[in-house]
Amino acid sequence: MPPALELRALTKDYDTLRAVDAVDLVVPENSIVGLVGESGSGKSTTGLMAMRLTEITAGQVLLSGMDITALSPVAMRPHRRAMQIIFQDSYSALDPMMTLADIIAEPLRIHRIGTRRTQRQEALSWFERVGLSRDYANRYPHELSGGQRQRVAVARALILKPKVLVADEPTSALDVSVKAQIVNLLQDLQADMGLSILFISHDLSVVRSLTDQLVVMYHGRVVEKAPTEMIFQNARHPYTRALLNAVPVMDPRARRRRHFATAEEIAAAIPAFSAAELVTPLVPTNTGTRLAEIAPGHFVEARIER
Ligand SMILES: Nc1ncnc2c1ncn2[C@@H]1O[C@H](COP(=O)(O)OP(=O)(O)OP(=O)(O)O)[C@@H](O)[C@H]1O
Ligand SMILES: [Mg+2]
Repeated sequence: MPPALELRALTKDYDTLRAVDAVDLVVPENSIVGLVGESGSGKSTTGLMAMRLTEITAGQVLLSGMDITALSPVAMRPHRRAMQIIFQDSYSALDPMMTLADIIAEPLRIHRIGTRRTQRQEALSWFERVGLSRDYANRYPHELSGGQRQRVAVARALILKPKVLVADEPTSALDVSVKAQIVNLLQDLQADMGLSILFISHDLSVVRSLTDQLVVMYHGRVVEKAPTEMIFQNARHPYTRALLNAVPVMDPRARRRRHFATAEEIAAAIPAFSAAELVTPLVPTNTGTRLAEIAPGHFVEARIER
């Protein structure tokens, strides 16, 4: 079975900046993959390209094995149902003039699924699935707390039963207790629906409890990826280690100023391996090959010595 989502050498250039540099990443069926890295490392840009919501400079996006990189908007339409995204700030994504029931039902209307009546019934059933009372059906987004709004965003994203969900820091704006509730909700829905989730986050404790695998980005590149516990117990890249050792910062504004070792220090500390230490030999020209497989499923950016 092909993975739900596969990114191959995905690259994004802005005017003078390569924001995403040949990212290879796989989200297997029915699993949660975390994408972590400091602010500006290219996580959101990667997620947006994966959803075909921003132009792709180079590389490929495969949805269940189907290459959707170059599909026209019309050809994309049937695939849009299968891929949904939620953001940190769902308030700006929820139309303030629409009732919550209409907001949740809207994707069904856009894709012309069912009748007005069945669309509303389906929307109402989603209130329960995301832990909201149906009493909220005729209310408006401004009447909700941040956590409740995130529940609405989740219902709206999942009502089309997508295969892939990109969650871009869906809990970053929430208080600790509410954060845990939303994480539990995503975990339950993932299992119920067999969803595949790319979970973008700064929050390593959330990532550790939620994800099966982790991909670590630094300056647009993937520097390490492995099953989540392998990263937490045996991170090999100096940047990953710096990230794991960083003291959590509660104030989200302060986190923007968090400093790791300098790029030069990190570059100097990239580990070296001999070819004999690698699980699979590097293929010199193929993209993504600067990642060395040092244990089964554990890839790290490495210097290769002969
Ligand atoms: N529309 C744009 N035009 C030009 N540069 C951009 C644009 N969007 C993002 N960038 C730049 O691309 C780089 C990657 O940004 P991106 O938003 O993907 O990072 P991120 O890892 O999601 O960061 P954060 O954790 O702050 O959300 C940054 O240097 C950013 O300034
Ligand atoms: Mg981002």
